[in-house]
Amino acid sequence: MSIASLFTPVALGDLRLPNRVIMSSLTRCRADAEHIPTPLMAEYYAQRASAGLVMAEATMAMEGNSAFQGREPGIYSAAQIAGWKVVTDAVHAKGGRIMLQIWHGGRACHSLLNNGRQPVAPSPLRIENDEIYTPEGKKPYEMPRELRDDEIPDIIAGFVHAAKCAQAAGFDGVEVHGANGYLLDQFLRSGSNRRTGPYGGPLENRAKLLLEVTDAVIGVWGAGRVAVRISPLNSYNFMKDGDPVGLTTYVAGQLSRRKIAFLDLMRADFFGQQKGDVVTPAREHFAGPLVGNMGYTAAEAAAAIDAGTLAAVSFGHHYVSNPDLVEVQARPDSRRTGPKDFLQPGSERLHRLPVFGRLMGLRT
Ligand SMILES: Cc1cc2nc3c(=O)[nH]c(=O)nc-3n(C[C@H](O)[C@H](O)[C@H](O)COP(=O)(O)O)c2cc1C
Repeated sequence: MSIASLFTPVALGDLRLPNRVIMSSLTRCRADAEHIPTPLMAEYYAQRASAGLVMAEATMAMEGNSAFQGREPGIYSAAQIAGWKVVTDAVHAKGGRIMLQIWHGGRACHSLLNNGRQPVAPSPLRIENDEIYTPEGKKPYEMPRELRDDEIPDIIAGFVHAAKCAQAAGFDGVEVHGANGYLLDQFLRSGSNRRTGPYGGPLENRAKLLLEVTDAVIGVWGAGRVAVRISPLNSYNFMKDGDPVGLTTYVAGQLSRRKIAFLDLMRADFFGQQKGDVVTPAREHFAGPLVGNMGYTAAEAAAAIDAGTLAAVSFGHHYVSNPDLVEVQARPDSRRTGPKDFLQPGSERLHRLPVFGRLMGLRT
C-alpha cells in the first residue's frame, strides 16, 4: 500500500509542515547539571530537522522538579534560553520546525535530584511499581506532598514563565505535557488524584489544572501554536484511570473549543496492560488536527491519514536511531533499530549515527 500521504504538507494550527512525520518527544538526559541544553543537543536535533515537526524533549517548566538523573533540560533561566536558542537556530538553519514540550514531573521527581525538595502531587500517593535513578543509585519513588489549592496558581504561573522563555528561545510553539504520569496527568487520572475540592473528584475537576495551564499558555503563544499531549491508557509511572474513554471524550471536547494547534494522542499503554480505543472518541470530540502516537508503522500511519482520522503521526523510538526517519520511511527495510531506553548522561553514540543517505545499511 502507498505511504505517499505521509509526505504531503499539512497545517497544524499556525504551523505549516512539509510532511506528516513528527518526531515525538524523547528525553535524552544530555543537558548539563544546571539543566542548560548542550551543543550536543543542537547537533542531535538538527540531524532530525527533516521531520515535519520536531517535538523537543520534556523540559522542566520550573526549577526543582528534576526526574531524569538531573540532566533533563529546563526552560526557566536566561542560560537555558540561550542554550535552547542554539538548538532552535540549528534546526531552523536546516529548514526545520521545532516545538518545546513543557513539563512538571510531579511525584516522578526525587529529593535526591532536587536538593532535598520533596516531590509534589495532587495526592500523597507514590509510584509503587518502579524505581528512579538517583546519584546514589536506583531508589524507590518517594511519597509526594499533596499540593495545596493555594499553590496551584504558582504551578500555572510556572508554565506561563516557561512558555515565555520558549518564545525567547526561538521555538515555533509549545506542547503542554499532560501525559505519561507526570504532574498534569497525575491530576487528570483518577488513580493518582484522590483530592477533594476544586481540583479533585469528578473528571471536570481533575481536568481543571491541565485546562487552566493550557489556557494560560495560549495566552502567551496564541492557540495556533499550542499543542497538548495526553496518554489516557498508559500505565507508565503507576498510572490508571477508571474511565479512559470518558476522560478522552471530555478532554478532547474541551481542547476542541480552545482551537489548539493539535492534540497529540498516545493511543496505548507502554506495557500493554490497559487496553481500549481512545482514538475514536478523540476524533469524534476534537475538531482540530489529531496527531497519533504509539506503535505506528509507516503503513498504518498513512492509512489513518488517508482515512481522515489523523492529520499526522509522531514517531518515538524510531527517531532515536534514525535521525533521517523521513527519508528512511520510504525504505522501511532499511530502518535501523536501537535501544528504546533512556540514555545515561554522557552517552553520545546513538545520535551520532551517520545519516542514512551517506552510510546506507549501517546498523546499531
Ligand atoms: C527514550 C524515550 C524517551 C521518551 N521521552 C519522552 C518525553 O520526554 N516526553 C514524552 O511525552 N514522551 C516521551 N517518550 C515517549 C515517546 O515520545 C513516544 O510516545 C513513545 O516512544 C511511543 O511512540 P513510538 O511507538 O513511535 O515509539 C519517550 C520514549 C522513549 C523511548
